[in-house]
Amino acid sequence: MKILVMNGPNLNLLGTREPGVYGRQTLETIMTGLQEQGRVLKVEVDWMQSNDEGTLVTRIGESRGRYDGLILNPAAYTHTSVALRDALQATGVPCVEVHLSNIHAREAFRHTSLTAAACLGQICGFGSMSYQLALEALVAHLKGKGE
Ligand code: DQA
Repeated sequence: MKILVMNGPNLNLLGTREPGVYGRQTLETIMTGLQEQGRVLKVEVDWMQSNDEGTLVTRIGESRGRYDGLILNPAAYTHTSVALRDALQATGVPCVEVHLSNIHAREAFRHTSLTAAACLGQICGFGSMSYQLALEALVAHLKGKGE
């Protein structure tokens, strides 16, 4: 089973980016931990980060047939991107949306996610643990479906 973890804009800056909101771990540290967890769960975990909406759209589009599931932190594009939502709906690859912070407890413009409706579910507010919970839920979902 293969999972792709996708990270949107500015998540490359984790570690120094607003640590009070996003914590002090770098993206690389979080992703390496997730790959460890993948080994325990016996799934292969690839990851990527891009600041570019088009690159994220393309990678979602290419994921069909290559990946069994996706974990996506669309970052700021969560709140703006019809293109990412359409890409998720077009490929139909099961996806879990994650956020480090609790977007519902922040500014009003973060309360809406355009992408969540195209996902199995959304996990937010648990810092880097949001990714771990998403991987656990996604793998359980896929195994439950016999994939
Ligand atoms: C975020 C929340 C978004 O609102 C924000 O634009 C981000 C990070 C999170 O992981 O908490 O860049 O997706």
